[in-house]
Amino acid sequence: MFLRQSLVRWVVPLLGGFGLLVQADVDVPAAALAAAESGSVTKMDFGKTPDGTPVDLYVLKNGNLTAKVMTYGAIITEIDAPDRNGKLGDVVLGFDSLEGYLGKHPYFGATVGRVANRVAKGKFTLGGREYTLATNNGPNSLHGGIKGFDKVVWKAEPTSQAGGTSVKLTYTSPDGEEGYPGNLSASVTFTVTDRDELKIEYSATTDKATPINLSNHSYFNLAGRTTESILGHELMLAADRYTPVDDTLIPTGEIAPVAGTPLDFTKPTDIGARIKEIKADPVGYDHNFVLNGGGKSLALAARVYEPKTGRLLEMSTTEPGVQFYTGNFLDGTITGKDGIVYRQYQGFCLEAQHFPDSINHPSFPSAVLEPGKTYTQTTIYKFSAR
Ligand code: GLA
Repeated sequence: MFLRQSLVRWVVPLLGGFGLLVQADVDVPAAALAAAESGSVTKMDFGKTPDGTPVDLYVLKNGNLTAKVMTYGAIITEIDAPDRNGKLGDVVLGFDSLEGYLGKHPYFGATVGRVANRVAKGKFTLGGREYTLATNNGPNSLHGGIKGFDKVVWKAEPTSQAGGTSVKLTYTSPDGEEGYPGNLSASVTFTVTDRDELKIEYSATTDKATPINLSNHSYFNLAGRTTESILGHELMLAADRYTPVDDTLIPTGEIAPVAGTPLDFTKPTDIGARIKEIKADPVGYDHNFVLNGGGKSLALAARVYEPKTGRLLEMSTTEPGVQFYTGNFLDGTITGKDGIVYRQYQGFCLEAQHFPDSINHPSFPSAVLEPGKTYTQTTIYKFSAR
């Protein structure tokens, strides 16, 4: 089988400078694509949205790692990482084709915004004005509202970056979209580095003050494509504190210690070890942890180890918080890649973010972007095996 596509290839720089971009329309055998060279970005057609907008998939390959990102929702569709024997496995949940992503699903791999996580009752006051957002999660607004950044088609261009192969996705969110103020120009750059990292760099500017909180909602299962849950994965979170929530998952405003609770992952602990002790419906982790790094510069936030395959994921971020979510709402109604039925605890998310509902909690780190300022966020997922 041959696929008609635009092949964009980076020649990896010899002296650590920028690569040379070579682009051509060519027929590429599907098998050759799978074996695309290290240090390459390959663009493929991935179908069309119902209104006929074409969606592209970018395959970023470098070192031992391959990541696939599509322009619909700036969604990570696949991450292939080696196990301790060098065998590649796809470590994120999702679908085999665009159709699955166009249907109802809980943000698999998605870029979430304008504000990731919840805004209480979809209301906030900024600059003396009250704003009302689209609500889509009980009384609250979740992950940007009804049509968030996960459901729009982004523009894409391969970019140059020393030591990595990248694609930069951009989206302009118009003033008033989902109730948010200001025209917001947002970009997300995905880079697979030669150190087996998937680096995600976000940037945004606005023409009116607006809340902003961009994140990625990948569900990981480091065992690869499997029906097994993530309860046997071992987790370390660099967080001594968390933000307790009410029964609609809105923070009470308190910042509480994890010590003595099932949320204490300061020492590596199996995700499943104390999960049943969580008082929530459905039962499981869905909490914002306050990172010890403080959100000032890039700092290690989490380390997750899967003992059967030996895969290790280390996450670093510039954000002050991370939502650790264990796929509690997965209930067997979604069939994903390879026909696997996604059940509760099939994957875990580590969503780097400002704290939920920050806009209504002046004591939390501010998530407001003012005109003339630039919002930035960097999160790195590093893969290895031992
Ligand atoms: C986030 C939320 C969860 C859930 C998922 C999507 O992680 O915190 O409560 O809404 O997104 O299902």
